[in-house]
Amino acid sequence: MEVIVQPDAAACAKLGADAIAGLVTRHPSAVLGLATGSSPLGIYDELIARYKAGAVSFAEVTTFSLDEYVGLPREHYESYHSVIRRVFTDQIDIDPARVHGPDGEATEIAAECARYETAIRSAGGVDLQILGIGTTGHIGFNEPGSSLASRTRLKTLTPRTREDNARFFDSIDDVPMHVLTQGIGTIMDARHLLLVATGEAKADAVRELVEGAVSARWPCTIMQHHPHVTVLLDEAAAAKLDLAEYYAYTYAKKPAWQTL
Ligand code: GLP
Repeated sequence: MEVIVQPDAAACAKLGADAIAGLVTRHPSAVLGLATGSSPLGIYDELIARYKAGAVSFAEVTTFSLDEYVGLPREHYESYHSVIRRVFTDQIDIDPARVHGPDGEATEIAAECARYETAIRSAGGVDLQILGIGTTGHIGFNEPGSSLASRTRLKTLTPRTREDNARFFDSIDDVPMHVLTQGIGTIMDARHLLLVATGEAKADAVRELVEGAVSARWPCTIMQHHPHVTVLLDEAAAAKLDLAEYYAYTYAKKPAWQTL
């Protein structure tokens, strides 16, 4: 796990965009795993700017979103179907037919989850998965207690996550109770995990992610078992790490030939 602490969110976004643009330049038909929430917005903005400047093309890229609310119409402003298009894919040259997400309106939930797993596998698996982290330690919407081997399935949001996400809705009562999310096992199959976390509200979850014991209590901790993880943090999100100085030292001494 490579932990990189940057002065601010903009610097994190630039590094995250470097990793993704580098991958897409090397492998134009790369498969990207996309996350919603505020955390990756800076990365998306940076990639959109680079696309508009002619520095990168997503024409052959395929994307799979991590999760979706159950019961929101897909055209709802806050459905992740709408959000990911609005904040990212509608602003680049990706083929809209290659932008995928779980269908939160499906009537046969188990069949939809199995279909989504098959679609990811058929595309060759995810090359790089962008992740945020919830204050409960969730990745995707894998709340505490999630099986560390789980696949795409229905989950019930914790009251805390519904409170955190209430800012996107008129009232907390409008935040859906249920979601479809890639499982922890699904996320762990991606070849590179790139997690971005900023702000002091994330400091506890980040401490567990990087230095805590691996446990379903903090589902993000499973990432310690992944061979290629990049954690991009601002100073506030990194504030509770015991070894913060060592991570900074390691990054400063990183051999020039090593990319993210
Ligand atoms: C959301 C998403 C996650 C996201 C997390 C943190 O609800 N399902 O993918 O990483 O919660 O959100 P934010 O980045 O807005 O803090």
